[in-house]
Amino acid sequence: MAFIILLGPPGSGKGTQAKQLIDELSLPAISTGDLIRQEVANDSPIGRTAKSFMSQGQLVPDNIIIELFKHSIKQPKFSNGFISDGFPRNAEQAESFDSILSANKNLPVYVFLFEVSLDTLLERILGRQVCQTCNHIFHKKFNPSKSIDVCDNCGGVLTTRIDDSEPVVRERHSVYLEKLNPMLNYYGSRVIKINAMQAPEVVFQEVMSHLALAK
Ligand code: AP5
Repeated sequence: MAFIILLGPPGSGKGTQAKQLIDELSLPAISTGDLIRQEVANDSPIGRTAKSFMSQGQLVPDNIIIELFKHSIKQPKFSNGFISDGFPRNAEQAESFDSILSANKNLPVYVFLFEVSLDTLLERILGRQVCQTCNHIFHKKFNPSKSIDVCDNCGGVLTTRIDDSEPVVRERHSVYLEKLNPMLNYYGSRVIKINAMQAPEVVFQEVMSHLALAK
């Protein structure tokens, strides 16, 4: 199969597209944001450290996140490739990802960059709801659940993320911009830019058009 890396600012639709790609390609996905939120929910030592960074819109330190990522992808289901949502976030993580992938030289790697304006990101994030049980993503206006605050997918309760307040989103966005150019310089011509301001199904078709993958 392949490794598919989804880069983009908070709210650009990485999680939404990852979920569609899982279904279409039968490829597993890994989200470092979800991994961290699970650690926070478990109140583990990693979770307690990570929460203070996350709630202020800062990146969790590289040593923690890289170890968490490396540990998670050891699961056999990831050995034939996966979709990576939220990792890497900076040039150091990108380098580390490449060294992890070097053991799988035969698999293609696609690096997508979702581009969206700040106003649109704010509108998307401030309307986002996430299922507490299955992590399915909704939006109060753009993708509402059929019953208020209830997940269509599993019946779980829909909640708002602790880092989805406007000041924290603005901080996350500025951290994103600060780390972006060094990471883009690292990837160079490998980056495939996607206009992620379009409707989710249009973005999905654009991504799919770049993937020369057998289903
Ligand atoms: P993480 O969970 O990865 O958050 P993020 O990157 O900030 O991205 P989001 O999850 O907010 O947005 P998204 O792009 O997935 O958009 P979504 O599809 O949900 O990370 C959270 C925190 O964890 C970080 O701030 C950091 O502290 C820590 N962390 C994680 N990874 C780390 C790493 N590698 N290193 C260090 N720290 C790390 O869509 C948003 C909303 O818009 C939804 O409501 C959706 O329904 C809607 N929507 C999506 N697409 C469209 C569309 N095309 N049109 C209209 N609405 C849309």
